[in-house]
Order: sequence, then structure tokens, then C-alpha cells
Amino acid sequence: MKMSAETVLEQAMPVLEMVDVSVKRSGRLILSNINLRILKGEFVGLVGPNGSGKSTLLLSILDLLNIQTGSIKILGHNPQSKRLHGKIGWVSQAASNLPRDIKITVQELVQLGTVTGKNMLKLYDKSRAKLVEEAIRMVDLQAVRDVDVSRLSGGQRQRAVIARALASDAEFIILDEPLVGIDRDSRNSLLQLLDNLCHDEGKTIFMVSHDLAAMRQTAHRMIFLEETIRYDGDTEHFPDLSGLAFLRGIEHVHGGTHTHSNHGKGEEQ
Ligand SMILES: Nc1ncnc2c1ncn2[C@@H]1O[C@H](COP(=O)(O)OP(=O)(O)OP(=O)(O)O)[C@@H](O)[C@H]1O
Ligand SMILES: [Mg+2]
Repeated sequence: MKMSAETVLEQAMPVLEMVDVSVKRSGRLILSNINLRILKGEFVGLVGPNGSGKSTLLLSILDLLNIQTGSIKILGHNPQSKRLHGKIGWVSQAASNLPRDIKITVQELVQLGTVTGKNMLKLYDKSRAKLVEEAIRMVDLQAVRDVDVSRLSGGQRQRAVIARALASDAEFIILDEPLVGIDRDSRNSLLQLLDNLCHDEGKTIFMVSHDLAAMRQTAHRMIFLEETIRYDGDTEHFPDLSGLAFLRGIEHVHGGTHTHSNHGKGEEQ
């Protein structure tokens, strides 16, 4: 395939580059001094306690939150650039909590992932149909493709929203807690799928999860965030619990001391 000069340039750029980023929400500093660079084909796991700013970090990358200081570049562009349309796939936290009153089949939901500014007015074409097929197959939902999403189990719905992001054919896929509510088998096949996307298709994945075991199994690189980045390195060298306590500057890690409960969570906390 012939690449445009712009595409060639983008390929040479880090997929994500954040320099000295800080973010305030309601006047409170949530993120400070974030310096982060993610390269094409990396699978990066983002972990940290509840309220440590993981979703905030993703929302600022997606240009859904303003940053206070610093800069963010995606494929060399500012987050608000139209050039990024269709290049970022996003599965938001609790994305599978779709409104119950919306009547939409799995196939239709996944199809929405292929809508970009460019093709919005075009009829549903063959290449898009192929992406939808492929995405549904990847998450193993062929059997329920014509079923209304409100009738699916939590895990199936989660896979459907992931398929929507996959169908976009985006090169940078950002997932916020995609494993919540998924049974072990689906979880493993999903992780395998994400891993294949990196290795075989050169996609770049940035994923938040509380499931440390799952992250260790798949991510090449781990980031531990608590207001700022406290660990960024190989998954292999990611610290154990006492090492994490050290990173957090505390002597003991108390279980279940979360002071706020913003979202439903599963697995290791
Ligand atoms: N809309 C908002 N306005 C003001 N503060 C917010 C808002 N949303 C979140 N916060 C605060 O920002 C901080 C970081 O929240 P964020 O959702 O980024 O954390 P998180 O690491 O994703 O947590 P979790 O693991 O629970 O998803 C928390 O202290 C939270 O209370
Ligand atoms: Mg979050």
C-alpha cells in the first residue's frame, strides 16, 4: 500500500507524547508532571489506586479534559486535530453500561465504530462491512450478532463495546477497565486478541486495569500512576505489593481504604 507523506511522518512519531502535563479538576490538582512517551506497537498497562487519576489521564489524551500545563501530542498532532479522526479507538470505563432504552443490535453497535467524519454520509460500504465482521468474530459474538445489546450478559456487552473500538480500525486503542465483568475465558481470549493486535498489526494499546495478574500476563510495559508517574518500565520488573507501597511513600498498604466509590469494579483492588 502506498503511504502518503503525512502517513510516513506519522509512522515515525511516537504514538503518544506527554510533556510536563498537569490537570486540575474542580480546582484540585489531579495529575502533575506527567511525562510519557508511547511508541507504535507497544502494549502499555496503566495501574494505580482508585482516584489516582488514570481515567483523567485518558480523558486528557482524548481531549475531553483540558490540561493545565504541558503538552500532549498524538501521532505528532494536537489532541484536537481533525487529522486524528478515526485513528484513536476508545473503550471508556463502564462503556458497557449502555442505556437500556436504546434498541440496537450487536452488529449495529459495532457498525457505529466505523463511522468517521469522512464516511458518515456514505452508505454502509463493503470495507466497513468487513471491519464489522472481523471485529465481531474477534470478540466471538457471531452467535448474538442480531440480538439486542440490552439482552446480552455483562461480559458479552463488554465484548461488544470492545468490538466497536476494534471496528474503527484505529491505530491507537485506549481502554479503561475493559476486563470488568468478563469471565476468565473471555478475559483470556480478549487479552490474546489485544496482544495479537500489537504484534501482528502494529496497533498501539494503552489499557487501564485493576487486574494486575492480567496486566502482567499481557502488557509489555507498566505504568503506576498516583498523581504522577511513579513507575514506568518493563512488566517484568514491575514491583510487588511492598515495592508499590514504597513507590507510594507509605509503610503499609491497607486493604479497602478507598474514600470514594465512583465506579463498579471487579477483581483485585
Ligand atoms: N468530574 C470531576 N470533577 C472533579 N473531580 C473529579 C471528577 N471526576 C473525577 N474527579 C476526581 O479526580 C480524581 C481522579 O479521578 P479518576 O477518575 O481519574 O481516577 P481513576 O484512577 O480513574 O480511579 P478509578 O480507579 O476509581 O477509576 C479523583 O479524586 C476524583 O474524585
Ligand atoms: Mg477510572
